[in-house]
Amino acid sequence: MKRRSFIKAGMRTMAMTAMASVLPLPSHASGVRRYAITAAPAVQHLGPADRPATSLWLYDGISPGPMIAAQRGEELEIEFLNKLDVPTTMHWHGIRNLNEMDGVPDLTQVAVEPGESFTYRFPLRDAGTFWYHAHNKGWEQLARGLYGPLVVHDGDAAAGTRDITLVADDWRLDDTYQLHEDSFESLMDWSHQGRLGNWLTVNGATDPEIAVASGPVRLRLINAANARTLAFRLGTGAPMRIVALDGAPCIPFDADSIRIASAQRVDIIADFGRGVTLLEEISTGDAISAARLVGAPDDAASSPAPAAQTGDTTPWYVRPDIAGARVIDIHMQGGAMGNLESAMFEGEMLPLRQLAQEHSKLWAFNGAIGGYDQMLADLALGEVAVLRVRNDTRWEHAMHLHGHHFWVTSREFGEAGRDVLRDTYLMAPGETADLVFVADNPGLWLFHCHMMEHHAAGMGGVISIS
Ligand code: C2O
Ligand code: CU
Repeated sequence: MKRRSFIKAGMRTMAMTAMASVLPLPSHASGVRRYAITAAPAVQHLGPADRPATSLWLYDGISPGPMIAAQRGEELEIEFLNKLDVPTTMHWHGIRNLNEMDGVPDLTQVAVEPGESFTYRFPLRDAGTFWYHAHNKGWEQLARGLYGPLVVHDGDAAAGTRDITLVADDWRLDDTYQLHEDSFESLMDWSHQGRLGNWLTVNGATDPEIAVASGPVRLRLINAANARTLAFRLGTGAPMRIVALDGAPCIPFDADSIRIASAQRVDIIADFGRGVTLLEEISTGDAISAARLVGAPDDAASSPAPAAQTGDTTPWYVRPDIAGARVIDIHMQGGAMGNLESAMFEGEMLPLRQLAQEHSKLWAFNGAIGGYDQMLADLALGEVAVLRVRNDTRWEHAMHLHGHHFWVTSREFGEAGRDVLRDTYLMAPGETADLVFVADNPGLWLFHCHMMEHHAAGMGGVISIS
């Protein structure tokens, strides 16, 4: 694998607003927000405008897909049409969804075949920063561009240049700016950190200029990369006030930089002046400009201060008491330089070498290669549950639970530990973490690593709640 080298773009892309957005279809029933979204092959300039465009699979022909914006309490209805030549589904990451709308093929729905459509419709219980993405062969479909932002506002939505959504991705491109397809099933990637890219985009462009109001601005950062944990800081060195994690409000705290694992979201409030502030990506130790935030005069009348600025930090639900809770032990093993010698796969105990070479399986939960048929727990509706997850591998993992947010004493922001509510938790090698949640959403829910290649190679299972 090539060492990552982000190539600085000679050309800048000016985006007047941060996101391409489409108007919702007219709504006939009050309280229903309607969109129609089509997945199809499309091209986009990920690199400089004078370089070849990249062939991708996109929602509505743009990367990232169209901004879906709604209000808490509304129902969202998405008429989805699949114009790809492979089956796919849409998953609404972080939404405490109805199980049958969760978009997991072979678990919550039948995959949407080429030429077919499917209507997703579900209530929006929580305001926050979410995203949507394909959930069939995610290691390929996300890498080809099938994802977009979903923002649920709470009444007084600040808009425009005060509330900016930035979707970051880490593409692996070849010299002609095409996706590196030969490495899609690379065992090297699958057994190590996953598919790491060599090209960073924000909102589908290289180092774009994005207009921001001067004064406090809410930046909603979304990491749509297959596997890379990104890290951001402001070029001015100014502190960022973190107000929400994975959509859920947190007790605000300041940080000089913030790491964001695959699928995680972080909402920050930062103050911008009239000049240009670089948003720098620093995960490799080499700072590169991810986006250039261009301060614009504050039009206070049309853009109220971000809601979080005025202090709504009420969590969606309080951390439940875990006395008497159901504890589910999950022992994660596998990957390169790991200690997994053999594991159960389709009813047979097989050595890791054979699992890797014949089945592309490399990771296990509790001694078994995971899949949609691996039941991790069977919980009663309303039960308090603790996923006691032990990362007994040499790698970080971004562990994601569908349909719920969990409380975790996070070590992501320093050893001291910080109690946060989130849906994807980045675990360090050797770490054991308790993910605490109320099993209040019935159905079959995936629990998996969001590094797409790890998930495909066995790091996933199902929690049943009834
Ligand atoms: Cu982003 Cu299984 O999900
Ligand atoms: Cu992983």
